[in-house]
Amino acid sequence: EKDGYDYFMLKEIAEQPKAVANTLLGRVGNDGLLSLDEMRLSDDELREVDKVVVVACGTAYHAGMVAKYAIEHWTRLPCEVELASEFRYRDPVVDRQTLVIAISQSGETMDTLMALRYAREQGARVLAICNTNGATIPRESDAVLYTHAGPEVAVASTKAFLTQMIACFLVGLYLGQVRGTKWGDEIRSVVRDLSDLPAKVDVVLETMEPVRELARNLASATSVLFLGRHVGYPVALEGALKLKELAYMHAEGFAAGELKHGPIALVEENVPIIVVVPSPKGRSVLHDKIVSNIQEVRARGARTIVVAEEGDEDVVPYADHLIRVPECPVLLQPVVSTVPLQVFACEMASARGFDVDQPRNLAKSVTVE
Ligand code: F6R
Repeated sequence: EKDGYDYFMLKEIAEQPKAVANTLLGRVGNDGLLSLDEMRLSDDELREVDKVVVVACGTAYHAGMVAKYAIEHWTRLPCEVELASEFRYRDPVVDRQTLVIAISQSGETMDTLMALRYAREQGARVLAICNTNGATIPRESDAVLYTHAGPEVAVASTKAFLTQMIACFLVGLYLGQVRGTKWGDEIRSVVRDLSDLPAKVDVVLETMEPVRELARNLASATSVLFLGRHVGYPVALEGALKLKELAYMHAEGFAAGELKHGPIALVEENVPIIVVVPSPKGRSVLHDKIVSNIQEVRARGARTIVVAEEGDEDVVPYADHLIRVPECPVLLQPVVSTVPLQVFACEMASARGFDVDQPRNLAKSVTVE
């Protein structure tokens, strides 16, 4: 069933172009606009929304962090993202006009389920983004948008994560469409950008051999740090989570702007630092800032591994290793830049002799607190 791959995780990483394409399938009308009637929330209900709150755990939470950037940009609605385990024990302010989005691959995660129950008791409308048909979370929600990643067997989430981001983009864009903050041609253009993603992920997958080699070379490192800004920040967190759970290494992701507020003290000779660079100069105001972050850590002896778009030449002088990803609109970039970090973690775990598909102490579906 592994189709010739050594691990389910590798198979599932390779399935990502298809998973992304399937999640977009049937959700764009002939007019190039979105039609998400399946979601079961009326346009009137969506027009009443005055705040979006995303709740999720682990990798799904990282998808929610990416969603925040897109939803606020496209809809001008405030969007909060919170770990379900924190949300449910706080006294969060949600009401009838709040749209709560619960993201869960399995649809059974206890904390996410309890968070959505609480939100519904407060009168909020809850939309589930889920990969498992008929699971508890979609059953208990007002609305559901399924990710069509197909069954995910490896404990570490890969294709589900990419499709969760896609589903969040669809919801954000649809809210913009219904509420009139995004107009026809703008929507059509983002939809085209989304449709280009499967081919871009394919390109990334075809160029992963050097990343595998790098992982094997770094297999004896004791710690790996990840830096990102804007949507690259959740990607950094996700890269670190994958490495922890699979390779049992100390790995931490930081917002690059926080470096000087503490984490830079961790930088020492030869520590590998993976930096997720936003779109090149001209398309992202943050590009210069992250280039200087790379310089800063390198000047302190770090071994820099830079994930940057094709054609971004500014990073070349400061990258000990360069991982190229195809050019992509800023907000959608996590869909391509996450992939090398998944491959890196998988190869690292395998080089260290660990069971990639069944990491110790972890379960695929977390139905207890
Ligand atoms: C990490 C991972 C977990 C899950 C988390 C939520 O690779 O898979 O962090 O993302 O347990 O699970 P779901 O999405 O099923 O609610």
